[in-house]
Amino acid sequence: MKYFIGNWKMFGVPKSINILKKINSFTAKDKIRNKYRIIITPPYTLLESFAKKFKSKKVLIGSQNCYHKDLFSSNTSAISPFMIRSVGVKYTLIGHSDNRAEGDSDDMLRDKVKYALKNNLKVIFCIGENKFQKKNNQTFKVLKNQLNNALEKKINHNNIIIAYEPIWSIGTGRIPNHNELLKTIIYIKDILRKIFKKTPAVLYGGSVDANNVDMLSQIKELDGFLIGGASKSSKKFIDIIKNYYR
Ligand code: PGA
Repeated sequence: MKYFIGNWKMFGVPKSINILKKINSFTAKDKIRNKYRIIITPPYTLLESFAKKFKSKKVLIGSQNCYHKDLFSSNTSAISPFMIRSVGVKYTLIGHSDNRAEGDSDDMLRDKVKYALKNNLKVIFCIGENKFQKKNNQTFKVLKNQLNNALEKKINHNNIIIAYEPIWSIGTGRIPNHNELLKTIIYIKDILRKIFKKTPAVLYGGSVDANNVDMLSQIKELDGFLIGGASKSSKKFIDIIKNYYR
């Protein structure tokens, strides 16, 4: 099973549901639709209405984040995993570099993962090095720490997806080269095997588009993609899927 996950970030109003409808009509007719799963993560404001409208559709809805406490609390503006699950959402991103930059610590991320899973949300956990860490050959060390600090052995590996997103690649049009990415994905899977004995799906994210997905599709170790900018257009998103299987 391959994953094509669209991260809308701060984008979308109610009528943006038309983008999802177009993606859904493409996939509903696609002969190979059972080979992949599509998840779109709109902002909090759209989660309930989108999750309701797409309840029994091929396109699944995820949240972009969740708070590191369960149920209810007195933290202004916070949205807990329990609240997200209560509106019919089944997935959540956790640890996106945007949120790490805004202060998500390893301890907070561990709690987010724990409470998301407790509330039956499947977790898409994001990791990735910045350009200084890459330049100083610290990539593997950074990735290993990010994984080990947030993921506990007892987690069922089927409930978690890892998205490797080098920060220098997000929104820049730059992606790692074939060998570099292959080596990193193999490394991440080795670490995951040590934690869980099995390997969850591992995705790549960062400037994925309909052109570079050709190169990326040659890396069979990749289980899919986390797509930012190109997921805001149904055509660009659909072209990525089409080109991947071409
Ligand atoms: P991008 O974003 O595809 O626009 O680089 C990816 C992400 O941040 O998830």
